[in-house]
Amino acid sequence: MISGSPSLFTWSLSEPRPVGLTSFLRQRADALWFYGSSKAALRDVLPALAAPGETILVPSYLPDAVVEPVEELGLETRYYAIEPDLSPDLADLERRLDDRTAAVVSVNYFGFPQPGLEATLDLAEEYDCYHVDDNAHGALSVDDGTLLGTRGHVGVASLWKLLPIPNGAVLYVSDEAVRRRFTPSPLATPRAGFDTEDYRFVMKSLAVDVLSTHTAVKQSIGALVSRRGGGVADPRTRYEASKEPLSKLSERILEDADPAVIRSARRENYRAWRRALRDRSDVDLLFPDLADGICPQVCPVRATRPARFRRELERCDVGGVHTWPRLAPAVLTDSTYETARTLSESVLTLPVHQHIDAAQIDAVGRCLR
Ligand SMILES: Cc1ncc(COP(=O)(O)O)c(C=O)c1O
Repeated sequence: MISGSPSLFTWSLSEPRPVGLTSFLRQRADALWFYGSSKAALRDVLPALAAPGETILVPSYLPDAVVEPVEELGLETRYYAIEPDLSPDLADLERRLDDRTAAVVSVNYFGFPQPGLEATLDLAEEYDCYHVDDNAHGALSVDDGTLLGTRGHVGVASLWKLLPIPNGAVLYVSDEAVRRRFTPSPLATPRAGFDTEDYRFVMKSLAVDVLSTHTAVKQSIGALVSRRGGGVADPRTRYEASKEPLSKLSERILEDADPAVIRSARRENYRAWRRALRDRSDVDLLFPDLADGICPQVCPVRATRPARFRRELERCDVGGVHTWPRLAPAVLTDSTYETARTLSESVLTLPVHQHIDAAQIDAVGRCLR
């Protein structure tokens, strides 16, 4: 079975590691702080960019909860339309820029550099706005020698999307003037000791590992959870739960994790999906090229019949595949954002995490054929 996310127990904590992930990031960024989530990091840093009543421009192709910190701070969220290749619709973006706009957010989707970034930055500069480099998906991606997330005045990256950890994200404040105004809250100080959430995470990971070897047991647990209404919580609840400092367990694992090993495994698995889907005329990779330095979060594909393709993948023992993301109601109800809506219904994210063997994906390719 190919699982949707990596396992805590495939990790060998005793193996010596040449460069930990924390040092890898520190070597490539001027100033950084660790948090429990990217949303918590944004909550802390946005007051250094914008005053209440000012506007933050964000892409319409974005999970609904990401703007929660913007709303909480009394700032206005304004969505801009995007193109099918995920670049900003520049005409739409420019229409929404005005003298109340404090910052423009770009997104390195799935760990790949934001398409059309140059033109976006030109507009931000013309309107005297800050740039937020949202790198929630690509903490280990390096583009042309630059760590993604460090290109903006500020940037964020979610570490929990890459590693089996209870929580974890990093905030980059690359601009010196912003850094002088930035006052980190207690959320920027990692927890001093292990807490119940760490223990709960270990127990849960253990249970998932044991159960995933027994498909029948796993299915009945899944049914039980869904009967109890264990679906995705609403954006405000998710945001409130994410306002946490970095956990002690996360900190330890980050110090120990080897970025080179993670990146190379994810890249190999990405290439395996590309091989597996080569002959499918109904499934396209969103990013057919995998440039040097990129560490993909997932392999995003656009499927003509997403529900059917998902069923095929399930039949071939691939778990954790879903459409991405759940959009905000303001995006869903406005026809200007049609492209974001179409993408959110047709893009499926295939797992490439470091605990999958590329040979398993090759086998899925044979199964699909
Ligand atoms: C593009 C993007 N930005 C920001 C976030 C928020 O990250 P976190 O869950 O670490 O707060 C997400 C989460 O899915 C995301 O997809």
